[in-house]
Amino acid sequence: ERYGQLNRTVVLVGMMGSGKTAVGTALARLLGVPFLDSDEEIVRAAQMSVAEIFERDGEPFFRAREREVIERLLSGPPAIVSTGGGAFISPENREMIARMGVSVWLKVDADLLWQRVRHKNTRPLLRTADPRRTLNELLAQREPAYAQAQIAVEAEEGLSVLDMAQKVARA
Ligand code: S3P
Repeated sequence: ERYGQLNRTVVLVGMMGSGKTAVGTALARLLGVPFLDSDEEIVRAAQMSVAEIFERDGEPFFRAREREVIERLLSGPPAIVSTGGGAFISPENREMIARMGVSVWLKVDADLLWQRVRHKNTRPLLRTADPRRTLNELLAQREPAYAQAQIAVEAEEGLSVLDMAQKVARA
């Protein structure tokens, strides 16, 4: 399948476990553009993991770095940018992304998100007594923000990463 040339940077938004990194990597390959990941850029600059940054410097510090990184990535040539699950919650970030790129929400239901994140311990926001409940609460809180993305692509049961990437490319 052939897709037209990408003339704006696509910013993938959505919850932890929604597949932003996996789908973004496949999508970038399909479209022949670079793949960039805001968490990865923050980690590389800080020489610390996301969890360590949260612990040492706090979430507001992380959010400030996240904003700078996304702005820098949006200032470059068209690419696929994957963001952390909290990035699209800030109205300033939403405004910046709408102005400089196009947002795509990877919409995934709570059960599937939980299956994907339950065995990982890399997400500081899920280090709670009841991480499943925390995930559900975060999803409920954040859905109204994600719903403001310019495009929503829903993950149905049984769709592979490549299927999702093709669905996003068509959208
Ligand atoms: C966060 C999601 C993480 C990471 C940080 C905060 C969030 O990214 O940015 O742990 O607020 O949902 P992923 O969505 O890639 O897990």
